Amino acid sequence: MIIAIDGPAAAGKGELTRRLAAHFDLARLDTGLLYRAVGWRVLAEGRDPADVAAAVAAAKTLIPAHLDEPELRTEAAGSAASKVAAIPAVRAALLDFQRDFAARPPLGKTGAILDGRDIGTVICPDAPVKLFLTARPEIRAERRAKELQAKGTEAIGSAVLRDMMERDARDRERSVAPLEPAQDAFVLDTSDMDADAVFAAALDYISRKFV
Ligand code: C5P
Repeated sequence: MIIAIDGPAAAGKGELTRRLAAHFDLARLDTGLLYRAVGWRVLAEGRDPADVAAAVAAAKTLIPAHLDEPELRTEAAGSAASKVAAIPAVRAALLDFQRDFAARPPLGKTGAILDGRDIGTVICPDAPVKLFLTARPEIRAERRAKELQAKGTEAIGSAVLRDMMERDARDRERSVAPLEPAQDAFVLDTSDMDADAVFAAALDYISRKFV
């Protein structure tokens, strides 16, 4: 079983992916972490994430240990991620790792769930289950601000909203693998749903698909 989950930031992908992975005993890959790790490494070298040579070098030398840095969860890493993610050669360098993960899931699992922006459209176009989560920008910004505050980071709603809109626009407008639902994806607007309702709707969709 391969499940593809896509959508913009703070639409509920992470929580849904964790729950579905546990429910179906699937290996889970948060593909955003790959781009965050590349962006973060470029920043750490004092380079600009839009610097193609620096970003491609970081992508080509990425190893799993680079994915464990706690700083990858910061907004600075998210913003750097969306800049390196717009570079076609960076995406190309990360492609095989993601496809291999889906084809040969680790830990003896018999299936995989991947979440990101282009899983249903580019990484796993043949995935039998594709979900695209979305939500109104104000709601997503509010969720993200709450998450940051819970981690003890100061977050002002209006600034989070502005950064998120900027990142969304970069992700939607880039020339390679732009953020968009696959034609055969189930699109779910989570604006007025809690995590339990999103999980229930996803399970209902999956069970109807396999009847
Ligand atoms: O999901 P997350 O917020 O961690 O992703 C960070 C950034 O990485 C996104 O804004 C996007 O630019 C990029 N990304 C991508 N393709 C993916 C996953 C993430 O371009 N499959």
